[in-house]
Amino acid sequence: MSEKIVIMFSEEHVTETIKNVAGQINADYGKQPVHLIGVLRGAAPFLCELSKYLSMPVTIDFIQVKSYDGTSSSELQEVMGISDSITGKNVIIIEDIIDSGKTLKYLKELFVKDNPKSLKICVLLNKPSRRVVEIEPDYCGEDIPDLFVVGYGLDYDQKYRNLPYIAELRGV
Ligand code: IMP
Ligand code: MG
Repeated sequence: MSEKIVIMFSEEHVTETIKNVAGQINADYGKQPVHLIGVLRGAAPFLCELSKYLSMPVTIDFIQVKSYDGTSSSELQEVMGISDSITGKNVIIIEDIIDSGKTLKYLKELFVKDNPKSLKICVLLNKPSRRVVEIEPDYCGEDIPDLFVVGYGLDYDQKYRNLPYIAELRGV
């Protein structure tokens, strides 16, 4: 069977969803500065769009992690670290999707060591039924069922990240 794309959220829908998340962040932080840390590569389009609708002073950094299979469990490793200190900052981790929760749990435990003023998690998509570790996002665009999705930064084999909408990928 060949790969088939079935649109789940249109570009207009995604934009509205992101504006809504930005509104919640604006309401919570007011004029306090926030420091966004995007998880490469998938979070880049979401972070760029979200940051446009934030009304406080915003700074942006990125981190890249990869998972590797250890003998007993799947572990994570930093590929590219953050550039700026997060001590005393209102940090919001920006991620494309939370699935098992392992990536965001790892990042939260990593960043909390540097004593940020506050530390929250913001995701575009959430697959609640897939969680294997205890962690929940503070801000979430959409809950979705256990389907494989691509677009708006999300990839399959590094493809489809550039799609301006979110689609279910079938036939893989
Ligand atoms: P975790 O399982 O919560 O640690 O999620 C790890 C990563 O899996 C996410 O950052 C995504 O890169 C990837 N991922 C999970 N579900 C999907 C999906 O449906 N499409 C594309 N990537 C996904
Ligand atoms: Mg990712």
